[in-house]
Amino acid sequence: MSSSGIHKLPSSKECNVLVFRGVRAVDPSSNLDAIVDVVVEGKTITHVGPNAAECVFGECVFEVPHAPGALLFPGLFDLHTHLREPGQEYKEDLASGLAAAAAGGFTDVCAMPNTRPVNDNRAITEMLVLKSRTIGGTRLHPIAAITVGQKGEALTEMADLKEAGAVAVSDDGYCVTRSDVMRRALEYASTFDLPVIQHCEDHALTAGAQMHEGIVSTKLGLRGWPRVAEDVIVARDVILAEYTRARYHVAHVSTAGALRILREAKSRGIRVTAEVTPHHLLLTDASLLGYNTACKVNPPLREDEDLSVLREALADGTIDCIATDHAPHSPLEKDCDLHDASPGMIGLELCVPLMLGLVRKNILPLSRFVDALTAAPAKIAGRTASRIKEGAEANLTLVDPDAHWTVTPDRLRSKSKNTPFIGQSVTGMVVMTVVGGAVAFDANEKPE
Ligand code: NCD
Repeated sequence: MSSSGIHKLPSSKECNVLVFRGVRAVDPSSNLDAIVDVVVEGKTITHVGPNAAECVFGECVFEVPHAPGALLFPGLFDLHTHLREPGQEYKEDLASGLAAAAAGGFTDVCAMPNTRPVNDNRAITEMLVLKSRTIGGTRLHPIAAITVGQKGEALTEMADLKEAGAVAVSDDGYCVTRSDVMRRALEYASTFDLPVIQHCEDHALTAGAQMHEGIVSTKLGLRGWPRVAEDVIVARDVILAEYTRARYHVAHVSTAGALRILREAKSRGIRVTAEVTPHHLLLTDASLLGYNTACKVNPPLREDEDLSVLREALADGTIDCIATDHAPHSPLEKDCDLHDASPGMIGLELCVPLMLGLVRKNILPLSRFVDALTAAPAKIAGRTASRIKEGAEANLTLVDPDAHWTVTPDRLRSKSKNTPFIGQSVTGMVVMTVVGGAVAFDANEKPE
């Protein structure tokens, strides 16, 4: 009771019972796509079904407000983010990165090891786990380096790293180009059932490259990154993965050629998986015609023909998951010549609206969208996938698919604002993110 004697309604964060009444719950892993009530009590989903909330009442029950047509998903899982801590906290830190993740609907994110220093040891992996737990909200799963210092030579202590909480190994940002090192990395990682995530780039073929090699790079007079620089690494690695029987994952796949190789490998039962970023599904090299540094990414934005092949492959499951490759950079690295700009764009807070655009255009089935952002990446990281079913831990993402909003820097929780989507209006908004029964993000509450 407030001092005025009027009851103040409890906020979502104060209640230990959450009721989602009449939402469209979509969880392909539970064979669920229906209008239902979902009740969360404490950490657990206790009721799922039509009118399941009828018997739930009490002082501290929070009825989650939502628009008609709201969608409830299992908590989203991002296999590929850069949270920049330790070392580059001016771009992002764990608190801002995890807040951006929660605002983007992600209950789980994997953090790449290209920090300063590189996460190639137990101490950094443990620090990330412990500090992220203290921050709370979205859960962080570290990905540790494949090689010491990401130098492509000596392997890291993967036994230690796994024990400290690493869910995978990757030298992301750099490719493990030496075949002997990659072979041993696959063998060693498979002993601990860790997937090896490769940044597929033959650096000898991309030296000095600023963008995709094609007509646009020729027009702009910029050195290009040919598709084959990705394809040759994927081809070699698939051969090594078959030989070693290890788990191999292609980060941010971007070419039709790499997909042809992956499709063939999968058809022969080789343990390969792949992810694609929203920007590689939506943008082409033409967006660099104005030398927009926000569009400089690794691998580079390709051409229309790649886009359509990537979209098809995501829809049919050849590409297992969508990963943001959230790569924050400050104005220092982006407000400069294209040549001097660092590659990367942020992605956590735009993934849901951008990818729902593909669903609306019938390019991506809704069930595939959900799987590609929940069960599929969780499986690759060896984590229990979030589910919408009675008894499951309550990790949930509530989305209003019809809400329009304009992407402005002040709406983004990430410290960095490097995205070419600034100024654009998008449709689809994350309304609430629940992690382990606790509200990690509520669009109806002002940030503290
Ligand atoms: C990544 C980053 O900024 O850490 N950038 C990117 O464009 N994806 C590293 C990288 O993969 O080059």
